[in-house]
Amino acid sequence: MTNIAVFASGFGSNLQALIDYQKKHGFGNGKIVLVFSNNAEAFALKRAKRNKIKTCTFSPQSHNSRKEYDDAIDFMLAQNNIDLIVLAGYMLLLGPTIINKYRNRIINIHPALLPSFKGTHGIRDAFDYGVKVTGVTVHFVDEGLDSGPIIMQEALSIKQDDTIETVEENIHAVEHKIYPLAVKYFCEGRILLKGRKVKIL
Ligand code: GAR
Repeated sequence: MTNIAVFASGFGSNLQALIDYQKKHGFGNGKIVLVFSNNAEAFALKRAKRNKIKTCTFSPQSHNSRKEYDDAIDFMLAQNNIDLIVLAGYMLLLGPTIINKYRNRIINIHPALLPSFKGTHGIRDAFDYGVKVTGVTVHFVDEGLDSGPIIMQEALSIKQDDTIETVEENIHAVEHKIYPLAVKYFCEGRILLKGRKVKIL
């Protein structure tokens, strides 16, 4: 059994894609058992509740220090026997305790072709830069910003008459397609990591 926690800070369209995939195809022995948000207003929490998935929310501001916030997350993960953390638009960095404890068991989706356009505005930064090709990256999370080993990438073109809105739409469509697959491969034990290189068996 792979107990999955999805972390989301906002709208939660990737969470929804994961829930839909789970309902339709399943993740093998994996199951989303918890949705966590640092933002009590996140629409992602509503999506989880609608689908009868347990939710949990608290923010760094409600703790005395970042360390206490991270400890609370650590405790929550242990209480729920979490095996895999799936970051889906979680806009905070995880603390070192969690990164160490769940090394190679935390994955993230980033809306650009890493290592280009790291950070919180991947789509806009790529668009403003004027690149002709951008895309989506799913990667393991390490101590750095968007720097862990790459699991999957899919590229898409930016055409002359694309706008930021059409690029966003195209990026999200790719995200919703590849993220559930990455989670499925993980749950099936098909992701092999050697150094920085990932093989999908
Ligand atoms: C997604 O595009 C995701 O790739 C991005 O936030 C969006 C969340 O959308 N994540 C990052 O930029 C992380 N650096 P969602 O809430 O609708 O899933």
